[in-house]
Amino acid sequence: MSFNRWSDTYESEIKKSAPLPIGDYSKFVVYKAEKICEIIEKNLLSNERVKILDWGCGNGVLDKMLQDRGFQVAGIDVSPKMIDLAKRLNPGSEFQIFDGVSLPIDMESVDVCICVCTLQHIAKPNRKQVFREMFKSIKRGGILIIYEHNRWNPLTRATVWRCPFENIQYVSVRELKKIVLDQPYKTEFSIKYHLSIPRQGQVINSLDRLFENFPLGVQYTAIIKKL
Ligand SMILES: C[S@@+](CC[C@H](N)C(=O)[O-])C[C@H]1O[C@@H](n2cnc3c(N)ncnc32)[C@H](O)[C@@H]1O
Repeated sequence: MSFNRWSDTYESEIKKSAPLPIGDYSKFVVYKAEKICEIIEKNLLSNERVKILDWGCGNGVLDKMLQDRGFQVAGIDVSPKMIDLAKRLNPGSEFQIFDGVSLPIDMESVDVCICVCTLQHIAKPNRKQVFREMFKSIKRGGILIIYEHNRWNPLTRATVWRCPFENIQYVSVRELKKIVLDQPYKTEFSIKYHLSIPRQGQVINSLDRLFENFPLGVQYTAIIKKL
């Protein structure tokens, strides 16, 4: 599915598709940015400025939030219109169109590769090769963060069903583990589920943490460290 058609209305379509009123969509992107920062802080012991590659960066809104939090971000996507938006929002950063499979940057040139709600849009037979390329981009000791929809959550399923561009093939944790095992690297693998309640507060944060090990959340992250 080409996202060129949805570049201008991407966020409003997601908002319209949610079965409950969700308010300001950008709060959900802030939530994602914070989860990603937390994962990076826990897993990387580097004092240097961390460089992130966003594989399937879309409109670059998340990337802007990550840059505002001190990371250096480069983004790649198959959609020229999405890349145009990302470039406009992140002037001076590297954002480029590519063929969707072959890594368009130097090998082992980033600390972290993120792939947010994009793997589910890649046909299953191509996922193993895309993983190989994502792993190539990361230095040893770096991490790959896959952020995906949790198919077992009814709110997720309802949103995906109603959304015109969410013509997806869900990515299961089992499938991810198998793909990672097939890669020629030693890795460490962990999963966290996210309730995705974009409100701050001690109670919400504690609930989020309490449930992160159970497959109930709206989305999940697979955190894969390249040893
Ligand atoms: C649902 S959007 C997610 C965008 C962004 N990561 C976000 O979280 O808002 C999926 C994106 O993946 C891109 N895409 C689809 N297939 C791709 C591939 N093989 N490689 C990189 N990007 C791809 C689409 O063009 C689109 O921008």
